Amino acid sequence: MTVAKHAAVVGSGASGFYAVEALLSGFPGIAVDMFERLPTPYGLVRSGVAPDHPKLKQVTLVFDKIMQSERFKFFGNVTVGQDISVDALLGAYDIVILAYGASTDRKMGIPGEGLDNSHSATEFVGWYNGHPDFRDCAFDLNQEVAVVVGHGNVAADVSRILLRPVDELRRTDIAAHALEVLAESKVREVHLVGRRGPAQAKFTTRELRGLGSIRDCAAAVHGDAIVVGSACETELAAPSNLNALRNMEFFRGLCGRGSDRQARRLVFHFCLNPERLEGEGRVENFIFRSNTLKGKPFEQSTVATDELRSIACGLVFGSIGYRGQPIEDVPFDARRGIVPNCRGRVERDGIAVDGLYVTGWLKRGPTGIIGTNRADSIETVQQIQRDLVHSELKSKHGREALAASLAQNRIDIVGLQDWLQIDSAERARGLGSGKPREKFTRITEMLDRVSLRHFPKAAASGSDDSARRQASVR
Ligand SMILES: Cc1cc2nc3c(=O)[nH]c(=O)nc-3n(C[C@H](O)[C@H](O)[C@H](O)COP(=O)(O)OP(=O)(O)OC[C@H]3O[C@@H](n4cnc5c(N)ncnc54)[C@H](O)[C@@H]3O)c2cc1C
Ligand SMILES: NC(=O)c1ccc[n+]([C@@H]2O[C@H](COP(=O)([O-])OP(=O)(O)OC[C@H]3O[C@@H](n4cnc5c(N)ncnc54)[C@H](OP(=O)(O)O)[C@@H]3O)[C@@H](O)[C@H]2O)c1
Repeated sequence: MTVAKHAAVVGSGASGFYAVEALLSGFPGIAVDMFERLPTPYGLVRSGVAPDHPKLKQVTLVFDKIMQSERFKFFGNVTVGQDISVDALLGAYDIVILAYGASTDRKMGIPGEGLDNSHSATEFVGWYNGHPDFRDCAFDLNQEVAVVVGHGNVAADVSRILLRPVDELRRTDIAAHALEVLAESKVREVHLVGRRGPAQAKFTTRELRGLGSIRDCAAAVHGDAIVVGSACETELAAPSNLNALRNMEFFRGLCGRGSDRQARRLVFHFCLNPERLEGEGRVENFIFRSNTLKGKPFEQSTVATDELRSIACGLVFGSIGYRGQPIEDVPFDARRGIVPNCRGRVERDGIAVDGLYVTGWLKRGPTGIIGTNRADSIETVQQIQRDLVHSELKSKHGREALAASLAQNRIDIVGLQDWLQIDSAERARGLGSGKPREKFTRITEMLDRVSLRHFPKAAASGSDDSARRQASVR
């Protein structure tokens, strides 16, 4: 077995950090460099997880510990595929693990989707979480009725943020620009629409119950009744499907409650396929087609009926899943939005690409919670270990081999110490308003906090501090 000395991980979300952890423990002596497009680490843990779920964000403490390893180096503000190619990484590192996630959204693909006030959940989530890509999005919350399409946890987050009393968000890390708009929101009613039935809804029960306990908000099921077929009953009886059973208990518990008089309302709809959006310039009506479910238990799909249903609304969010994006030099399965792989080893037309691996949402598609990525990254690193048993590694030079090309492109590298400066500045900004942090939402604001350097050769091999001393400061 040859010894891997240099590894690169592309992306600093959960899967990237778990890959680093597995590499550091699986390969004594290996040095791991992490390349991240933004100046800030943590991926969706920073820019996806809802601001009112602070406990879930504490996983960053685990990531921080990984970053403290002497064998680890952070290269923030470097977009792989643009600032540096994957081929260049493969030329420099024995192992390259792609962990750059699924950054874009799936579209409903219906007429009217482009009308004003029709958005994807991805935009809204990125906006309220202060992701720089979504800083300039605008949401017209002067509308009383919103429709959210999709019955997954992201749709639950979006609905909760729209309906939750804004005072309960003030002491979270929600972006200031979003808080300001939400404070003036006129949204009073959210319709949460799924294309399949209550037994197939993908909410985790915890998230669902959270929707049922929003202050001053009545939750209801459209039609006030739940009827499911025998295939659904079989699904619900399966011991492995406990989450669905609990969800069903929740939905049934909403029926027959009468009309609660609360300031806000959340209505669940089932078995409705998005058909079209109507309106003069902006969204006014959402037309759905009713469907029935057909097929064996756990394989049920929708069959359209002739019945159309319309919901008058002024605001729409499609929350039907995320999608991976191709980058140069990397094979890509456009249908599934993933990099084709066998247990994490990247394949081009069924043939392994030497040294190239993948993990996380880019490997398996956009599903799974933060913890799912740990097992996924361990699987990828175990595959690397198996592959190395029979391979002869050529001698590579790691980060030093990249210095020339990064310096040539004059990339402003954000190192670990730089990120720590941004981090403490954000925390300090939050203090006055009782927030855990006030995020910088523009990359220029983040870069202004640190003494940036381009990529001189010395910086490639030295510690962050020695790099800073030798840096060409802007
Ligand atoms: C809105 C939302 C809320 C969620 N809430 C929860 C929750 O409460 N609890 C929970 O357990 N799970 C939650 N999840 C799921 C969890 O966030 C994911 O399982 C996890 O983030 C996936 O990790 P990843 O590393 O594959 O991708 P990501 O977290 O997306 O990380 C990918 C990283 O790669 C970077 N990147 C992209 N392109 C490049 C490039 N070209 N070069 C360099 N870097 C690049 C990105 O900037 C990003 O930092 C949520 C997901 C979403 C979408
Ligand atoms: N608190 C948390 O733990 C948390 C919070 C947020 C996200 N997450 C995780 O992050 C992952 C992604 O969440 P997600 O909500 O984006 O995805 P998801 O769980 O896959 O849900 C997507 C929803 O969109 C529906 N859908 C897909 N295509 C559609 C179409 N063309 N028309 C109408 N509906 C369509 C799906 O219906 P079908 O079932 O019929 O396909 C499903 O209801 C999940 O694993 C989730 O658990 C976790």
